[in-house]
Amino acid sequence: MNVIITKGYDEMSSTAFEVMKEVVTRNPSAVLGLATGTTPLGLYERMARDHRENGTSYREIRTVNLDEYEGLDITSDQSYVRFMHEKLFRYIDIDPKNTNIENGKARDAARECARYNALLEDMRQDIQVLGIGSNGHIAFNEPGTPFETETHVVDLAESTIRDNSRLFARPEDVPRRAYTMGPKNIMNAKKILILASGANKAKAVLGLVEGEVTEQLPASILQRHPDCTLVCDEAAASLL
Ligand code: PGA
Repeated sequence: MNVIITKGYDEMSSTAFEVMKEVVTRNPSAVLGLATGTTPLGLYERMARDHRENGTSYREIRTVNLDEYEGLDITSDQSYVRFMHEKLFRYIDIDPKNTNIENGKARDAARECARYNALLEDMRQDIQVLGIGSNGHIAFNEPGTPFETETHVVDLAESTIRDNSRLFARPEDVPRRAYTMGPKNIMNAKKILILASGANKAKAVLGLVEGEVTEQLPASILQRHPDCTLVCDEAAASLL
């Protein structure tokens, strides 16, 4: 794993942007695997600014997102489909038809997972952006998820519900279940870019980089990926 330690969040975001820009410039119809959460916001701001100021085009770019809350869709402020629109897609020239995410309101969960897995088979990610949970999760793959798992519906861990409750009006509003790509779908990406910022991620980052590869720390599987870059700030790297 290639580990890049930066001073703080801004430098982490700029470094991540350089990696992303290289992928988009080399292949203007690349498949970008994208993540939600607080961590990639600085990266998305830089992508938007670069589009505005330098004209980098996303017209032919396709995207696949990691996860979505069950029961939420574009009509909910907290849905991830909405997040992607608000934080990135509205600022760049991407064709909405080329953006993909699980349908949180699908009637048949098993069918929706199968649909997403088939889509991911056809659209292997040229790069997959990831954050990391304080418990070592990637996407919504919580500790104990078998590494061979593909897209599935998960019961969120209490720690994840607590971490994410800051984004909801009331803790009880956080959905308890979500669709997520599985570790297997993530590992299929040609390149992984995982980002971490802040001292609350330090333990998870230690496990990611130096720990045993174990399903108890889902991110540790990335040690087996042939092209994985971690960009993290000093606080997140403090236990390395
Ligand atoms: P965060 O979430 O970027 O909001 O910290 C990361 C994650 O839970 O994967």
